[in-house]
Amino acid sequence: MDGMPDRLRQAVKLLLAGELVALPTETVYGLGADAANPEAVARIYAAKGRPADHPLIVHLAAAGHLAQWAAEVPPAARDLADAFWPGPLTLILKKQDWVPPAVTGGQDTVGLRVPGHPLALALLAAFAAARAPAPAGIAAPSANRFGRVSPTTAVHVREELGDKVSLILDGGPCEVGIESTILDFSRAGVPEILRPGAITADAIAHVIGVLPRLRDERTKGEVAADAAPRVPGALATHYAPRTPLRLTDSASLVTELACLASAGRRVAVLAYSAAMPRDAGLFADWRAAPPEPMGYACQLYASLRALDALGADIILVESPPDLPIWHAVADRLRRAAAKASS
Ligand code: TXA
Ligand code: MG
Repeated sequence: MDGMPDRLRQAVKLLLAGELVALPTETVYGLGADAANPEAVARIYAAKGRPADHPLIVHLAAAGHLAQWAAEVPPAARDLADAFWPGPLTLILKKQDWVPPAVTGGQDTVGLRVPGHPLALALLAAFAAARAPAPAGIAAPSANRFGRVSPTTAVHVREELGDKVSLILDGGPCEVGIESTILDFSRAGVPEILRPGAITADAIAHVIGVLPRLRDERTKGEVAADAAPRVPGALATHYAPRTPLRLTDSASLVTELACLASAGRRVAVLAYSAAMPRDAGLFADWRAAPPEPMGYACQLYASLRALDALGADIILVESPPDLPIWHAVADRLRRAAAKASS
């Protein structure tokens, strides 16, 4: 570990000792632990308040480490790893026998990705070097308390889990801003997107020549809060601010705002295309989001946190366009809104 910055050296030491280290990735900040150490992994669940049957993503230093963790790597999965790693794509593959059930929620599959953030990659490389030739991976869910909005800055992590994590590596604000696309290769046939993200179905199809299946939209929001879904992101109340959040189409936004305001409700608005009415400042906090999906995603969680902190009665969000490129953002907003009705 010679020549390595002190904080990285310290992070590797902590990981080897079974402690928690929060790390930046290009998507959101992760709460990391040694994926090969079940006791360390148990600390993640305790810190987040996350049920033990919800599997974690294992972060690797490079695609070359895949075969240490995955028992089977279909050619299409390999092609996607080559095309998108380091980057915001998680592959669900059959696990090697040795991979602890603590990481996989007891399933015979493991979620793997190489994150596209220089600090995460430096940490993963240093951790792998310290562990070699044994497999080295960092299990890391988003570094928020269970069911809450994912953190996209080191300050968010401190707010969420500051007292529970030994070290927070600060890599600046996350570039992507929403969690990775999760693609399941563990079942026969065409792979299935379990969670939409910045890597779209079309981008995947472009590489593997076939459009992945999408989870059934109609059943998505109906997963019971106490069920143990294969993807906790599928819980109706995931990614939720404390303030009730309501989605409304662009045409009704201003009328709905006026209605709420005349009923004496304090409203916080997140709009991307609707123009702020001239008098809106009198009864609402208005936030303009970027009008394209990448910029919107990048700021989404920080915006939700900021709006949540205003102490309004309701957060009114202008529904994004019903287009494939907005799919991942719309998914997160739907889940944030589900809390209000659950
Ligand atoms: O972008 C991301 O993916 C971030 C950063 C930190 O890498 N991580 C993240 O982790 O979002 P988490 O735990 O908040 O969400 C991971 C999702 C969960 O919904 C989990 O159920 C799913 O991945 N997952 C992990 N392993 C799985 C498996 N073997 N089968 C099915 N789903 C799995
Ligand atoms: Mg999460």
